[in-house]
Amino acid sequence: MPDGYDYLFKLLLIGDSGVGKSCLLLRFAEDSFTDSYLSTIGVDFKIRTIQLEGKTVKLQIWDTAGQERFRTIAAAYYRGAHGIIMVYDVTDMETFSNVKGWLQEIERYASEDVKKLIIGNKSDLVEKKVVEYSAAKEFADNLSIPFIETSARDSTNVEEAFNLMAKTIK
Ligand code: GTP
Ligand code: MG
Repeated sequence: MPDGYDYLFKLLLIGDSGVGKSCLLLRFAEDSFTDSYLSTIGVDFKIRTIQLEGKTVKLQIWDTAGQERFRTIAAAYYRGAHGIIMVYDVTDMETFSNVKGWLQEIERYASEDVKKLIIGNKSDLVEKKVVEYSAAKEFADNLSIPFIETSARDSTNVEEAFNLMAKTIK
């Protein structure tokens, strides 16, 4: 058991700029949140260890920049990922439409057996919500990709999302 864990899973967060990838990771890894927006430059990563079915799983989570000008940097991280999490913002239809484009990036750069997860983030913004759960669920079901709505702000389903990703890989 090197360094006290049974498995090491490498995860990658992708999706449009501003959907909340960094906030999801901050919530999951450090249980904190900030309303101020600091757009990611290049890539960043955090680590958290979880228990999964009696095993200790170390999650190494890479957080990419959604901004177009950093796409080529991010592409280099797809290959080594066991799981890729595509994030959209439930209050922004365009970020959901763009999930198709992110899937193409996965096909282009990731290994063939990579596991996927779609997250609709900012579920706390109920009044502003424009992407219906049912529409996103149907989209994900058609592609056989697990789907979950989260809020990095109020913590809803953040644990569940990363656990679901880890379970899918194991
Ligand atoms: P890039 O690094 O540019 O790709 O963006 P990102 O996807 O990492 O977005 P980030 O996590 O920086 O969040 C963008 C903005 O959305 C920030 O102002 C956050 O406070 C806000 N935000 C993130 N998650 C949530 C959420 O669950 N609910 C609400 N209400 N706001 C959120
Ligand atoms: Mg970011």
